[in-house]
Amino acid sequence: MFHYQQNGPAAELYCEQVALSTICAEVGTPTYIYSTEIIRRNVQSYLAADPDATFAYALKANQNLEILKLIQNLGFGADVTSGGELYLALQAGFDPKKIIYSGVGKRDDEIRMALKAKISALHVESSAELFIIEKLAAELGIRANVGFRLNPNVSAETHPYISTGLLENKFGVPMEKGMEMIHYAAASHHLHPTGVAMHIGSQIRETSSFIQAAQLVADLAIELKSGGVELAYIDIGGGLGIDYGQAESDLSEAERDINDWVNQVGHPVRTAGFRLKAEPGRSIMGAAGALLTQVTLAKFNQQKQFLIADAGMNDLLRPPLYQATHPILPVKTLIGTNQQTVDVVGPICESSDFLGKDVQLPVTRRGDRLAVMNAGAYGFAMSSNYNGRLRAAEVLVDGENWRVIRSRQEYADLI
Ligand code: LLP
Repeated sequence: MFHYQQNGPAAELYCEQVALSTICAEVGTPTYIYSTEIIRRNVQSYLAADPDATFAYALKANQNLEILKLIQNLGFGADVTSGGELYLALQAGFDPKKIIYSGVGKRDDEIRMALKAKISALHVESSAELFIIEKLAAELGIRANVGFRLNPNVSAETHPYISTGLLENKFGVPMEKGMEMIHYAAASHHLHPTGVAMHIGSQIRETSSFIQAAQLVADLAIELKSGGVELAYIDIGGGLGIDYGQAESDLSEAERDINDWVNQVGHPVRTAGFRLKAEPGRSIMGAAGALLTQVTLAKFNQQKQFLIADAGMNDLLRPPLYQATHPILPVKTLIGTNQQTVDVVGPICESSDFLGKDVQLPVTRRGDRLAVMNAGAYGFAMSSNYNGRLRAAEVLVDGENWRVIRSRQEYADLI
């Protein structure tokens, strides 16, 4: 977990028992740093909340192979969304029987790869896709396990870019259409309908929209059952939000949120007599990671005070893309230093390149290091080489030990 320790007149930020200043000095910046303890605790919170459920980690949140191995070893399955993610999940040792493939635009080669790997199910998002899977399964002489991602047309409180459960969104199939497709699949020689799924969006902090959607999906599964089509599971997707305002770790708050979500959203599923599945991403990895950066320059004019960091939107896209607020903390500071209000910006040639606006920080100078908190999900995963900047290193901490789990890119990697 991330917390301050007082060392004489200074307060120093730690990840578990490792001072972040040690990582900055030995690995350099920008660097993503992750806490094994937080990842483990979040995974275990899911497993404890419903021991009969199957949890599939959404790789898109963070796909570092060492992190995937850790999550796999703790007993999770995987939710993949591309051939590349399926490759990574298999490399990490996930049991194909615990892998599901969700995604609105699977290519034929990706479908074939999933069928050959004998994964648990492909989650279908349109009737056109269902026919393609049927044809490809027939060519391979097999029966494809298919789940159906339904669009319950329920609105959720989150940023419009990450809301997915409305008919205006490209995701899933409308309920009535889903019903028709499942009956079609049940009668096909090359399709085997295994379950229904929903995913109404991401970073959703209230449970009511999830519960409403889960009830609609469970009602549909009950109706199918009375029509003679028995499904094995109902998948409530991912989407549980984290408290981005929480700067230092609060493991018990996260545990409570996970437990409440699994119990409340899973309730309609269990009551209807179906096995629960879920696909969490952010709630496993978000609070488990921070982005370490060093201040290259401090710059000010009549209006603004800027800290120009060596990490930018190429490392962490969430602030400009979703107006997301990540707490920014000094890696080391003298207790009692005056506070100042600054914009923490990156080196990229765009005004959208900021890590935080109007941030309160102790007086900070060139060479000082900062930690952008709650950056473990959709941080490195969405990073790029924009402006010829190198992808950051990644470090995994476990107690007093740490190791580099991805080396920083080198200039030659840009070619
Ligand atoms: N299942 C499906 C089908 C998904 O599309 C997603 C996320 C998840 C599960 C995992 O959702 P989570 O538990 O992480 O909310 N880049 C954005 C988030 C995009 C989420 C996309 N889908 C961000 O940084 O906020």
